Amino acid sequence: MEKDTSVWWKTGVIYQVYPRSFQDSDGDGIGDLQGVINRLDYLSKTLGVDAIWLSPFYPSPQADFGYDVMDYCNVDPVFGDLTVFDRLLCEAHQRGLKVIIDIVPNHTSDRHPWFVESRSSRENPKRDWYIWQDAKEDGTPPNNWLAVFGGSSWEWDETTQQYYLHSFLKEQPDLNWRNADVREAMFNVYRFWLDRGVDGFRIDVAHYIMKDPEMRDNPINRDPSKGELKPTGDYDKLLHIYDKGHPDVHGVYHDLRDILDSYSPPRYSVGEIHIAEWKEWATYYGQNNDELHMPFNFALLVAPWKAAAIRKVIENVEKVTPSWGWPNYVLGNHDEPRIAGRLGVEKARQAAMLLLTLRGTPTLYNGDEFGQKNVEIPLEEQKDPWGKRVSGTGRDRNRTPNQWSPEANAGFTPAGVTPWLPVADDYRTVNMECELKESRSILNLYRKLLAFRKLSAAIKSGTYELIDPTPADCFAFLRQSGHERIITAFNMGETTARFDFHRFGRLEIIVSTGMDRAGLADSRYVDLSPWEGLVLRVL
Ligand code: GLC
Repeated sequence: MEKDTSVWWKTGVIYQVYPRSFQDSDGDGIGDLQGVINRLDYLSKTLGVDAIWLSPFYPSPQADFGYDVMDYCNVDPVFGDLTVFDRLLCEAHQRGLKVIIDIVPNHTSDRHPWFVESRSSRENPKRDWYIWQDAKEDGTPPNNWLAVFGGSSWEWDETTQQYYLHSFLKEQPDLNWRNADVREAMFNVYRFWLDRGVDGFRIDVAHYIMKDPEMRDNPINRDPSKGELKPTGDYDKLLHIYDKGHPDVHGVYHDLRDILDSYSPPRYSVGEIHIAEWKEWATYYGQNNDELHMPFNFALLVAPWKAAAIRKVIENVEKVTPSWGWPNYVLGNHDEPRIAGRLGVEKARQAAMLLLTLRGTPTLYNGDEFGQKNVEIPLEEQKDPWGKRVSGTGRDRNRTPNQWSPEANAGFTPAGVTPWLPVADDYRTVNMECELKESRSILNLYRKLLAFRKLSAAIKSGTYELIDPTPADCFAFLRQSGHERIITAFNMGETTARFDFHRFGRLEIIVSTGMDRAGLADSRYVDLSPWEGLVLRVL
C-alpha cells in the first residue's frame, strides 16, 4: 500500500553537517555555525537537500569533540553563540531547509555543573543524577561492564570513595535516567530548543540511557557474529545485554514523543541505535507510532557491496518496519569510514543511486557528495580519543575538512591557517567547485538524483517491489505511485549484465551512474556495464 508521506521527514533528504569540519568562517581552522550559514545556498539550491542535522555545537571541553556536553542550552564560542544559532535557524527556514540538532542524553561532560555537584559529596542533591556504586569488597569495580572507548566503564572517585559509570570516556559520565529530576531536566533541554524553533533531534546513543537496574555482569560473548556492528577490541568479548537497552528505555521515548507531538507542527526524532538484531531495532518505532520516528538504520554502512547482501538488508528493513513506520538508510556519518574510501568511487556512485531511490528517508554525510575519501593520519597526530585508545577505531580519517575548492585548504579555512585536521591530498580535483564544472562528477550525479527525486512521487513515497529474477550479481526494484513507475537497476558484478525488462514495455533512461546515457532504452533488454546503476522510467 502507498503510504501517507505528507511529512517532510518522510519525503525529504537529510544532510549531516559535522560543524568542526564543514566551513570555517573566522580563520581559526575549525568550522563554525556562521560557516554553515555561508553554505546554506549550496545545500538548499546547488545540492538540493531538505534538512540538515547539526552534530553537537554546545559548550564542551571537546574530549569527544562535542559529544561531551557542558551546557545543553548554549553554543560553544568556537562555533558561535545563540544569536548565530538563531540566525542559522532563520536563514535555513527561509530557504525551506529543516534543522535537526544532536542531543546527547546518555552522558554529560565531567565538567557539566550537574556532575561537578554530583561528585562533590555523597550528600549532594545531584548525587543521584549520575550512576554511583560502591566498589566490590576487594576494591574492584562493581561489575564487568566495559566502556565503548576501551577499559572498564567505572571510574574511581577518590573524594567520595565510589565508582561512577561512563559508557564512553571517563570524561563522559552517564546520567541516571531513573531519577525523575534528570528526566525532567533533560526534557526541558528538548523544550528549550523546540521553543527556539528546531524541527527535530538526532538522539545520540539513544538506547544506552536505560541499563539493568540490578547492574548484573554482562555475559561472555561466545559467538563473535553476535558482536556490535563494528568490532571494537575487548568490548566485543562481552554480550552487552545489561549495560544498555533495558526495556524501560521505551517509556522515555514514549514520553518524549508526547512532547514532540505537543508542538505544531509536531517535531521529529531519529535515534542513533546500533542494534544488529532487526526485530529489537524496530521496537524503537514504538508499539503504535508512539516512540521515535525512526531508529537510524546503519546496515548499508557495513554491508558488503554485493547484490545478495544489499538485497538482504532491504528485505529485512521492509520486513521489520512497522506498518505506520517509515524506513531510512544511512551511507555515512562522523563515526564511520567514508563510503568512497571503503568501496571506491565507482561503487560509491551506485550507493548514491541506491540511497536516493529506495523507499525510506536518506541521510547523507557532508563531503560524501564530492566523493571524499578517508584520510589516514599517523597515530601521533590523531585527535579522536577512541582511535588513540583502541587500535583501528580512529574516526579522524572520516572527519577531515569539507573540500570546497582547489584553493589552499580546499576553501575550508583561509590559506596559511592550519585546519584542525589535515585536508585530504586529493582536494585539488575532489572538491565542489571543480566537480560542479565536470558534467559527470559524483557531485553532479547526486544533484541529478536529488532533483529527480524531488519531482517523483514514486521515489519519495511510492511502494517498493523487488524485481526478480535479475541476472547474477544484479539487483533491481520498482517504485510506484499511481501511474508513475520507476525502476532502479544495479550491476554489482565484473561483467556486462543483460536485464530482461520487456514486461514493463517502453522504458526511458533517466540517469546512469556514469552519467553517460539517457533517452529511450531498448524495449527487449537493457545492458548494464560492470558496476553500473540505472534509473529508468516506465513509459
Ligand atoms: C555517538 C556519537 C559518537 C560519540 C558517541 C559518544 O556514537 O555518534 O561520535 O563519540 O556517541 O557520545
